[in-house]
Amino acid sequence: AIKAFLFDLDGVIVDTAIYHYQAWRRLANELGFDISEEFNERLKGVSRMESLDLILAEGGQTLSDERKLELATQKNEWYLELVSRMTPDDILPGVAPFFSQVRKAGLHTALGSVSKNAPLILERIGMGEVFDAVIDGNKISKGKPDPEVFTKGAAELDVQPDECVVFEDAVAGIEAGKRGGMHTVGLGSPDVLTQADMVAPSLEHLTVEQVLARFNA
Ligand code: G6P
Ligand code: MG
Repeated sequence: AIKAFLFDLDGVIVDTAIYHYQAWRRLANELGFDISEEFNERLKGVSRMESLDLILAEGGQTLSDERKLELATQKNEWYLELVSRMTPDDILPGVAPFFSQVRKAGLHTALGSVSKNAPLILERIGMGEVFDAVIDGNKISKGKPDPEVFTKGAAELDVQPDECVVFEDAVAGIEAGKRGGMHTVGLGSPDVLTQADMVAPSLEHLTVEQVLARFNA
């Protein structure tokens, strides 16, 4: 039976996915090229340095490690400017009611985010105390699609992978959940999240009952 729900942060709880895109796009533009929204799908769930590598490859640029570190730091500064203005009002629609259903159902929860900024974001939106376990970019060595972030969450909650449902907006995140042996719910477009076990537009369009009915069957 399902015992735990593991949530991605960016694009699931808050719409920071758009801030990442804005900051990366600004960086690409300064380097003399652009990145499309479609390309941006490939960056979701991917670590900061790996994202930069994908972007530089897209722009056909090769840079020194030192320069790359400078650029990643610059991107993060722009990103933090956007994040620092966040408040609890930025929690995505449907998250609060979904979490009260989660609590009523007695399920355990973990955050599974590759972002090193996840603790700051949780703080800004007043969700610092909501999750039973928080696994973020500071606690892992491999980003999604590696399952590490979710495997560590399940271990901290003391549940088995097949007792977990992963909620993800990223292609790499769905792959991470699957590789970890977990059930997956894609939040976004079924055309993008083709590998997810089930897909809904967002948590606003989903009930805990629907999720449990699907995976406890
Ligand atoms: C999440 C986002 C990615 C981001 C990564 C690292 O997985 O979906 O877009 O690159 O976190 O975030 P950070 O805040 O550490 O740069
Ligand atoms: Mg995400």
